[in-house]
Amino acid sequence: MSNPIIRLSRPSDINNIVSLDSKCYIYPFKIKDWQDLVQKSGHVGEPRLIMLEILDRPVGFCMWNIDHEARITNILRMAVLEKNRRFGLGRLLLTACDRSSLKAGVEKLRITVPDIHCCPGDPDDVSEFLLKTGFLTTGDIQPAFKQMYGDPVDGYVFERRVTI
Ligand SMILES: CC(C)(COP(=O)(O)OP(=O)(O)OC[C@H]1O[C@@H](n2cnc3c(N)ncnc32)[C@H](O)[C@@H]1OP(=O)(O)O)[C@@H](O)C(=O)NCCC(=O)NCCS
Repeated sequence: MSNPIIRLSRPSDINNIVSLDSKCYIYPFKIKDWQDLVQKSGHVGEPRLIMLEILDRPVGFCMWNIDHEARITNILRMAVLEKNRRFGLGRLLLTACDRSSLKAGVEKLRITVPDIHCCPGDPDDVSEFLLKTGFLTTGDIQPAFKQMYGDPVDGYVFERRVTI
């Protein structure tokens, strides 16, 4: 595989992000939400978005928000195109998140995952990826975390320490 490149997003990435999000998530964000997020990325107090590219083609992205008061980084979105999965690119996105957190003096990452994505062996499972990359469930459940398929789903909270 050619060398992957990680860089900060730019406003001109909007179409690529919308496309990646719709290909990787069964519940993508609305275009309007992405327009706001892309414009504000990197501004103080706003979520930060990074792009992952191979040979100048976007293959993934990650978005997180650093909560300085709680000293925790909340990963809001992280995705790699299906055909590029299982090559360590998800880990690479996490390392970028680690670096940014460390720079901000934050030592913990958190991600809240809809319960329907915590079914090991299922094609949409995310829990095995999280366990392999050092996350553990805190035991906290965020009730009615999201509305999916017309029903509220709970969110399972996973955390890990920054590991670089
Ligand atoms: C979650 C996601 C970003 C992982 O990306 P990826 O590039 O495949 O992850 P990596 O290749 O870096 O995987 C890291 C480790 O997790 C393992 N892993 C990844 N997905 C897995 C799965 N579905 N089941 C079991 N193990 C998995 C890999 O084998 C690897 O283990 P290893 O280092 O021991 O070999 C990707 O599957 C995705 O975009 N999913 C859809 C979007 C989504 O639900 N995102 C939620 C983010 S938590």
